[in-house]
Amino acid sequence: MKKNKILVTGGLGFIGSHTVVELQNKGFDVVIIDDLSNTKIEVLDGITAITNIRPEFVQMDLKKKEDVVSFFKHHDIDGVIHFAASKAVGESVEQPLKYYENNISTLVYLLQSMTENKVPHLIFSSSCTVYGQADELPITENAPVKKAESPYGNTKQIGEEIIQDVTKVENLNAIALRYFNPIGAHDSVHIGELPLGVPQNLIPFVTQTAAGIREELSVFGDDYPTPDGTAVRDYIHVVDLAKAHIVALQRLLQGKNKSKMEYFNLGTGTGSSVLDVIHAFEKANQMDVNYKIVARREGDITAAYANTTLANEELGWKADLGLEEALYSAWQWQLKQK
Ligand code: WQD
Repeated sequence: MKKNKILVTGGLGFIGSHTVVELQNKGFDVVIIDDLSNTKIEVLDGITAITNIRPEFVQMDLKKKEDVVSFFKHHDIDGVIHFAASKAVGESVEQPLKYYENNISTLVYLLQSMTENKVPHLIFSSSCTVYGQADELPITENAPVKKAESPYGNTKQIGEEIIQDVTKVENLNAIALRYFNPIGAHDSVHIGELPLGVPQNLIPFVTQTAAGIREELSVFGDDYPTPDGTAVRDYIHVVDLAKAHIVALQRLLQGKNKSKMEYFNLGTGTGSSVLDVIHAFEKANQMDVNYKIVARREGDITAAYANTTLANEELGWKADLGLEEALYSAWQWQLKQK
């Protein structure tokens, strides 16, 4: 029987690579497009080392519309999982046009080629950042989308709206997956998070501090209205997150979606503070993390964690791995970095 062929854009990235592994584990035929702007080609070897199946790889800049058109002329694609985007919140504030060009024009070219070539299924990488600081916690999919705090967050909101409009007039079914905070690494330690330069996100900074690469972790504020004063997030193991993409894709392929565009929050449902993370890391790995409390980071929200009811009951997915497991895997991955 012909295998479904899935295009994964940004498939050599952190979440993308873990999703490719899970797609191959489920028997899908995978082709990756990545421009290698924020990853390394060695990730392809890491995926292959895990599954023994080398995915087809096309190095491409999705901003080149003619290349996108040509790709779809030469590949018979059954569905697309679209990760490719710039994702650094702080950088997006300094370089908004880079983010609007890279995250929006590429989505438009992708959708044009999908509709012209009758590719009817799209999974879109979105983010809980669309909620800003939600009024109610835990956050449900009905929480209002608030004015984005950054151009990065705005590109996710605009992206969802573009897809929604296209599903109204084209033969396109889509699911937007709104991630909370993805962390950790595959337990094989062949793939993981590869922050290039100084890490912006908490976990890579924690592991690099533990590894002595960074002098000290700065905890951005301990004066938030939270139990220990530090900000709260919903940290989800990247493997759990990857598996959710397969479940969502199968929902579309089997025609089980209840509307042409659906939204699911992907989190554990548990909020953890920055200090909770530090203590969990120290416990999971039997080591100390050197940190100091500094001022809040501009644009940070106090707390965000998911109401997982819709994902659990409608999508049929829930996170299985806990914070300590994720932090253990993150450290094992860090130890492997040169
Ligand atoms: C987590 C917490 C920081 C670094 C962003 C995007 C989101 C997604 C994940 C792309 C916050 C604190 C951090 C540090 C710290 N990105 N922190 N010291 O900001 O919740 O989410 O990244 O998909 O869309 O919005 O993640 O890891 O940067 O921060 O104290 O050195 O850790 O203040 O409370 P964030 P983060």
